[in-house]
Amino acid sequence: MSADYKVHGDVAVITMNNPPVNGLGLATRQGITAGLEKAIADPAVKAIVLTGAGRAFSGGADIKEFGTSKALTEPNLLSVISAVENCPKPVVAAIHSVTMGGGLELSLGCHYRIAAPGASIALPEVKLGLIPGAGGTMRLPRVLGVETALNMIVSGEPVKSELLAQQPGQKLFDKMAGSAESLLEEALAYARSVAGVRPLPRVRDLPSKHPMGDAYFQFARNMVKGMARNFPAPVKCVDAVEASTKKKFDEGMVFERELFTNLMFTPESRALRHIFGAERNASKIPDVPEDTPRRPIQKVAVIGAGTMGGGISMNFLNAGIPVTILEMKQEALDRGIATIRKNYEAQVKKGKLQQDRFDQRMALLSTTLDYKDLAQADLVIEAVFEEMGVKQKVFETLDGVMKPGAILASNTSTLDVNKIAAFTKRPQDVVGLHFFSPANVMKLLEVVRGEKTAKDVLATVMDLAKKIRKTAVVAGVCDGFIGNRMIEQYSRQAGFLLDEGATPQQVDKAIERFGFAMGPFRMGDLAGNDIGWAIRKRRAQERPDMKYSRTADKLCELGRFGQKTGAGWYDYQAGKRDAIPSKLVEDLVADHRKELGITPRKISDEEIVQRLVFSLVNEGARILEEGIAVRAGDIDMVYLTGYGFPAHRGGPMLYADQVGLFNVVQAMKRFQQNPRDDAAFWEPAPLIQRLVAEGKTFN
Ligand code: NAI
Repeated sequence: MSADYKVHGDVAVITMNNPPVNGLGLATRQGITAGLEKAIADPAVKAIVLTGAGRAFSGGADIKEFGTSKALTEPNLLSVISAVENCPKPVVAAIHSVTMGGGLELSLGCHYRIAAPGASIALPEVKLGLIPGAGGTMRLPRVLGVETALNMIVSGEPVKSELLAQQPGQKLFDKMAGSAESLLEEALAYARSVAGVRPLPRVRDLPSKHPMGDAYFQFARNMVKGMARNFPAPVKCVDAVEASTKKKFDEGMVFERELFTNLMFTPESRALRHIFGAERNASKIPDVPEDTPRRPIQKVAVIGAGTMGGGISMNFLNAGIPVTILEMKQEALDRGIATIRKNYEAQVKKGKLQQDRFDQRMALLSTTLDYKDLAQADLVIEAVFEEMGVKQKVFETLDGVMKPGAILASNTSTLDVNKIAAFTKRPQDVVGLHFFSPANVMKLLEVVRGEKTAKDVLATVMDLAKKIRKTAVVAGVCDGFIGNRMIEQYSRQAGFLLDEGATPQQVDKAIERFGFAMGPFRMGDLAGNDIGWAIRKRRAQERPDMKYSRTADKLCELGRFGQKTGAGWYDYQAGKRDAIPSKLVEDLVADHRKELGITPRKISDEEIVQRLVFSLVNEGARILEEGIAVRAGDIDMVYLTGYGFPAHRGGPMLYADQVGLFNVVQAMKRFQQNPRDDAAFWEPAPLIQRLVAEGKTFN
């Protein structure tokens, strides 16, 4: 049982003890009820204090139990709260550090609450596509008022205890403790002071009302609908809180439970819960034990002050880690530093960065033209031109100058990290760190594990990624790693769709309605169509079997690289970013169809979405099978954090699971029949076929 029981004179203390945040799993729930029973049975005990050990009162439900029968096993959370509320002796919640979700709901079942300053108070269920399911929507409005409670429930964001305590008329906290250290002593004294008070106060007996009633809830509903387009839970939060003002307490509880249970089965909640787990799992590498020693990273060097080098450097400066950038020429250094400065200045202007912070960051930055100045860096990241010959020189030089044990990383997006490692006599220290552009903004970091990369190097960079607030995903060595290897298939499908009868705007709109921030053609115009052109030219040499639509090449032959040249798949007005459908592109596509002898057909939005998304899924399955990705959730994280895949779909692999892999295979087989498409690609990956045969899913 994960709760301790101790009697201090005439007060019993029940301490939830389930590290790291006293999650309310079955053992913790059993520990609380067992403690209550003991305290009730002991005539010497006059009052009870309920608190949490270590870093939390309680972080809430145990997410591992979600959707399993364990969450419902008695005593379930509702029964525990009911046992506390109906306890014949007063129960005082001693709240500190983290008090969230089920933890806060549990405290609301207590007769009194005393809080330490600095505690984070939240009902974050909405972030998992749910509403609070153990009375939070019924009790919080009764102690904080409808508006504050609804704001907290709809946003899921934590609020500090001392701020809530200042709210006029609040009944959430009966007392604020002087400090976290004195909380228990003060809670014991408070419990003694109320030990004889009867009847015992219960939150459920307080009223929940709003002076504006219906008008307020109408307004709230409209606001929330506008903000949470793809997610049903926020509007249900409004419904539940409204019910707290209209229904009797017990009826409200039933209503809340119904909403909660229905939401649990929505694809959106499944997606958000999947992301929550996938994000945590991504940092774990199966054959790298958690206690692997880390190498200290106190100084970082970056080679190349171009687009990527500058952004990469900013990540470390933001985290307070000094960076030295090396370039070949002073002008390149000056340009790079000016860009970093401009970026920070823009943040200062927008009020996102304070001037003194800006100064601190710039003070951590130094530059050099001489490799000797990098010798003492713990980590060096190369971001020079994407040419093997250039990388070779850089890595041979680094091998000669860097101190032993320094980590040598490459930001290459397409080159073989094993080859790069072989340019040194220390391939175990070499790793790929593939940042995404703009590197100071994008969350994703692909950590490319070479054949010889040492385990402590991997463990170190995974930790470091957290420090610089990236979502790191491990990828094996292959062309394009996880993200770009998959996106290539997606782009190929987009091209074929044009050949067969779609327009760029139809393709973009269909996939944007699915939830992508930007369709492939608008994206191409933003990133520069010349990048894909260069890759296809290289591909033509390396893999002549890989077919593409020629339209993109023809577009580039006209110099239509996208926004930077004022024209691409769309036309652009000077200084503006609005994509205007282009007559020239329409003709170019039509001419190409004629050359191919294709009669255009009407293509449904459904087919567009399926072909784009299932192409990711099929390649993702191959990546998984080859061991390039550790788990399907990692692939989803790559797409969610690096490619704008809609969060409410949970990533391509979870989306396929939700559609049903059998249905996915059927669609792929249909696409195989398409005469214009490449049937070999649409052969469902062996892994998918196996999963279907075994009735399993990716996740
Ligand atoms: P860039 O052309 O903007 O910058 C490269 C910089 O490296 C230039 O400032 C150049 O002067 C410097 N440089 C070249 N050779 C050098 C040498 N021997 N020693 C020192 N400095 C040298 O290129 P970008 O876009 O920053 O790309 C850099 C690397 O990052 C490439 O490997 C690229 O594939 C990779 N990458 C690029 C992404 C992008 O979106 N641009 C995304 C992810 C990775």
